[in-house]
Amino acid sequence: MIPQPTAQQALPDETFTLLSDATIGVDEQMQTIADNLAAQLRRSTGFALPVQQGTGTITLSANGPESLGAEGYELRADASGVTITAATAEGLFRGVTTLRQLLPAKAEAGSEQDGPWEVAGTTISDSPRYGYRGVMLDVSRHFFTVDQVKHFIDLVSLYKINRLHLHLSDDQGWRIQVDTWPRLTEHGGSQQVGGSAGGYYTKADYADLVQYAAEHYITVVPEIDTPGHTNAALASYPELNKGDQAPDLYTETEVGFSSLTIDKDVTYAFLDDVFREVAEQTPGDLLHLGGDEAHSTPHSEYLAFVPKAAELVVKYGKRVMGWHEIADGPLPAGTVVQYWGTEDPKAQVLAQQAVEQGATLVLSPANRAYLDMKYHEETPLGLQWAGLVSVEQSYSWNPATLLPNVPASAIDGVEAPLWTETLDDLEKVEFMVFPRLPGIAELGWSPESALDWTTYRDRLAEQGPRWEVLGVNFYRAPEIDWR
Ligand code: ACM
Repeated sequence: MIPQPTAQQALPDETFTLLSDATIGVDEQMQTIADNLAAQLRRSTGFALPVQQGTGTITLSANGPESLGAEGYELRADASGVTITAATAEGLFRGVTTLRQLLPAKAEAGSEQDGPWEVAGTTISDSPRYGYRGVMLDVSRHFFTVDQVKHFIDLVSLYKINRLHLHLSDDQGWRIQVDTWPRLTEHGGSQQVGGSAGGYYTKADYADLVQYAAEHYITVVPEIDTPGHTNAALASYPELNKGDQAPDLYTETEVGFSSLTIDKDVTYAFLDDVFREVAEQTPGDLLHLGGDEAHSTPHSEYLAFVPKAAELVVKYGKRVMGWHEIADGPLPAGTVVQYWGTEDPKAQVLAQQAVEQGATLVLSPANRAYLDMKYHEETPLGLQWAGLVSVEQSYSWNPATLLPNVPASAIDGVEAPLWTETLDDLEKVEFMVFPRLPGIAELGWSPESALDWTTYRDRLAEQGPRWEVLGVNFYRAPEIDWR
């Protein structure tokens, strides 16, 4: 299983077998979780699996003790049935993802399969190590449709990921509708890397995505990257530029050449509108303002800009999230700083500065957690500026001790970013995400004592048949003995 639960014991003389007369019992408010489980198991088993109030062959209960926490759950599978108990809907959902992994891989199939549908007897008591377990999808370099992102959500939610960071704007494309600045999407969203047609999310599209993520107990973290990575916005509105001259759209992949104009009032009127409209569509408490690689913003101007942009995020009721560069200046209370360094001491110092100011950290070390890095020299996709990132390299690190002079208590969790300069379809995305994302998900969820490459390798191998059933285009890394 991935992530490895906090505590699991086998019940050696017990086996649960799902039979054709099975039922799913649930409390009324948790009906959707049961319906979604039933829908999947009906497809693969062909059983009727009625969902009923109260108890059933499989019982889902969110009436467990508060001590289980926001995402914790207990699961028992024995000859008489399966019970999952949590204190919240979220905890119940996480427990259901565990049950799905306990069932045979073919339970994930989209068409009727032959049984038996057995689960080895077990008791599990489980809760996460960290509250933030994220994945980022760059929809700017290449645009991904609502249906594609939903499919991505389906897959990542299997590993108990609970944040989806959407990189919604960059030099190559602006991907979220802003009513007050319509050319951002009309013009700024019209292309993508390579010059093909881009795309963007209307407000209805975006609401649909946020809702779909929420049904998988995933909170969307929207990112509007500033003050660099802004060519799509600068190309859409001349007044955002020094000298009021709009540049052309940009469809190549260099970084660091664009900047908002720091000393113009219109820049902040623009950000006020953008952050207001994005915040209105964000049920989560974080809004990511980017802040990375502002190589063409003079540093003194950068230091003046970040607090002004951050103030606008706070004005609209959100906490600031930003890449670690923002920690070079003052940060508002509640800021989350995303570390994306490698072994670079400068980045580590910025992370320390963030924590000294009271910010917390999400860890995305590029030489470990960046899903767009090549696995090896011959990987046909991806980049390698942070090095080659094998499956072992991405898994074998400890979030609590990655950064010197940062207390473990300052770590909110981990996130695996996927930049899409070289990835223009979902198959390519899947190839880079699987099998590395489950390892990052385990670093975020499982206790430190469970983290062990040798046993992880075996558990990862068992995911292969699931991905085959699900049609996932995963990389069959040679260091794993795939089943
Ligand atoms: C980044 O990779 N520029 C955050």
